[in-house]
Amino acid sequence: MSDAYVRYARRHLRRRPRTSFVIGKAEAIPLADGSQDAVTSIFLFHELPPKVRRSALRECARVLKPGGRLILQDSLQHHDRPDYEGLLRLFPQSYHEPYYASYTKEDFAALASGCGLIHVRSVMAFVSKVMVFDKATTPARGHTGSSKRTLRAGVAPLVNFARVVRSVAASSSLSRPNSVSAAAFGGVPRGSRRSRR
Ligand SMILES: C[S@@+](CC[C@H](N)C(=O)[O-])C[C@H]1O[C@@H](n2cnc3c(N)ncnc32)[C@H](O)[C@@H]1O
Repeated sequence: MSDAYVRYARRHLRRRPRTSFVIGKAEAIPLADGSQDAVTSIFLFHELPPKVRRSALRECARVLKPGGRLILQDSLQHHDRPDYEGLLRLFPQSYHEPYYASYTKEDFAALASGCGLIHVRSVMAFVSKVMVFDKATTPARGHTGSSKRTLRAGVAPLVNFARVVRSVAASSSLSRPNSVSAAAFGGVPRGSRRSRR
């Protein structure tokens, strides 16, 4: 997160004394291995060059406890919703978004699997998508064989991102999530739809 976002977050969460803030790069998260119950990231990954994107995902996996949960909210990707393909192509032409096109083609389930994360589900909401991953409780062989263990849990209707976070946290083994947020705010409009994945 940028300093400006962190300043806002500090103000907004000043009545929550158990909340602390750490500023750092997603590709070098300044936290210990296996120290976090949950990691969330909102609209960060489409900003990252492919190499950094991979490092950031590895870092999310590294800081999670076994069984911990990673929740990424970002743009829709190619083939998520055929009627939005034109919009996904236009966006980087209208704005300075040099890594967006490569983001839309990235196979996050495969990348995550290589980091020991299991793709649990994806939920689409207008032009956004929430991807949920769990860290394997036992290391997968070479961190590659875990995709067979992918869980296909049902998805509660989604009204906003906070509800998604509550929903996925409740369905996991997390009791008191100690969340690291690589990029923390943002909402999901009403009228969300279930993932077809
Ligand atoms: C599109 S903004 C999203 C901000 C916020 N999460 C939201 O949803 O409104 C992307 C954010 O990612 C941050 N960012 C960009 N590259 C980063 C990196 N390598 N590590 C951590 N944060 C980064 C930027 O500072 C910015 O705050």
